[in-house]
Amino acid sequence: MIDESRVLPPGIAADVVLSEVRQLRAGDRPTHGGQLFAYVYDPAVPGLDELAAAAHRESAHVNGLDPTAFPSLLAMENALVGTAGRVLGAGPGTTAPDVVGSVTSGGTESLILAVKTARDAHPEIDAPRIVVPSTAHAAFAKAAHYLRVALDVVPVSPDTLRPDPSAMAAAIRPETVLVACSAPSYAHGVVDPVAEIAAAAAAAGVRCHVDACFGGWTLPYLRRLGEPVPAFDFTVPGVTSISVDLHKYAYAPKGVSVLLHRDAQLRAPQYFAYADWPGYTMINPVIASTRSGGPIAAAYATLRHLGDDGYLRLAEATRDAVAGLADAVRAIDGLRLMAEPESTVVCFTATEGGPDLFVLVDELTARGWHTQPQLSYAGLPASVHLTVTASVAPRVAEFGPALADAVAAARTAGPVALPPKLVALATSLTPDALTPELVAGLAGGLGLGAGDATPDRMAVVNTLLDAAPPALRERLLVEFVGLLQRPTW
Ligand SMILES: Cc1ncc(COP(=O)(O)O)c(C=O)c1O
Repeated sequence: MIDESRVLPPGIAADVVLSEVRQLRAGDRPTHGGQLFAYVYDPAVPGLDELAAAAHRESAHVNGLDPTAFPSLLAMENALVGTAGRVLGAGPGTTAPDVVGSVTSGGTESLILAVKTARDAHPEIDAPRIVVPSTAHAAFAKAAHYLRVALDVVPVSPDTLRPDPSAMAAAIRPETVLVACSAPSYAHGVVDPVAEIAAAAAAAGVRCHVDACFGGWTLPYLRRLGEPVPAFDFTVPGVTSISVDLHKYAYAPKGVSVLLHRDAQLRAPQYFAYADWPGYTMINPVIASTRSGGPIAAAYATLRHLGDDGYLRLAEATRDAVAGLADAVRAIDGLRLMAEPESTVVCFTATEGGPDLFVLVDELTARGWHTQPQLSYAGLPASVHLTVTASVAPRVAEFGPALADAVAAARTAGPVALPPKLVALATSLTPDALTPELVAGLAGGLGLGAGDATPDRMAVVNTLLDAAPPALRERLLVEFVGLLQRPTW
């Protein structure tokens, strides 16, 4: 008999549920195997996934809300902070012996907290501001938006892809609470002139945050391998905080970043404390209150297992993979590197008469290589981004021929020809004029309708977005994603 009061389907066997999850996962891009150059960080170390999963399981139900109730989590968190500090030039016997920090859920949370901490250190400033280079991660803009802090963006040189330190210095105002820079930047993988920027910030009495979320774990190892990595960490005077994501190049499963401050006094405004209600007094160092111990334990296990020798080996494999991929790009007529690789990114663009990059990205996808297109921005051309991890090393020799083949196919196909009406719309429409109906029509025309999977060929969508100014790109994509995010009843 059917129970009419039932709101959910009846429970099903564990193995059936798991096979459901696996079936859903089959449609995803491959997280392992060295062919996905964004979103995932795969060291290809046998047994590491199993170890991290086991550690996650041990602590999944532990709550980081109260460190006195679960000392295991506090111990692991302190160990992660200490290890991150050591990697970044801090700890006993260094010039930054008093570094403290917290584990957050990811780079974005670390950056939001770095901005919040800087803002709350200056309650006397009514309209706080932060200074960032234009290549700073979008999470700074998100932080500024969430926290009502104004964002002063300093353009980067189209040649070096770095900001001029004197322009960063000139952007500092009396209301500036934080100056930030990247080591390295996500888009191009270049390290900003941290020492000069930190010196300018210090001279103005302003905090300086180094966003080392992306490659901060690898740079010190690359330096030890002989690469010319400039000082970017706590050895640099004036650097007051650094973020580094363990779920990136520390190869921990997702959900773990570390935010470090040079000393406890600098960290103090990061805490949120509230006793003015009848429940428990809430003391939160990070944005979340209840926090699963799972990701922290998984990261702890990953770091302990890989150790210094493991990370050095992985950095070496990654460095060799980067060199091989960069050579493959250099060998192609019509492509050029945006910057000589200095970390773990290969980023290239097309030269005059070169292939259409968005078509090329689709051709690479069709050959099993998943790269990330980057739209043109403020005088910088559209480009293709490759985040390179250790798992790419054994596949490098296959990439060159695939790239050559994909370029030939992209040249044959030619660039995407958008209907002139669509181009006119993309270039003239203001975000406010975008009605849901217009977006739905556009999405339908581009094969992005509700309930559809994302299409294999994205060149048309990328070409349209590339023609649109950033504010319109934002609106269009918000609407598109809104179309995808519909409940299954
Ligand atoms: C330099 C940099 N900062 C911050 C972030 C944000 O990290 P998350 O995606 O973990 O929030 C990223 C992500 O790629 C990054 O590359």
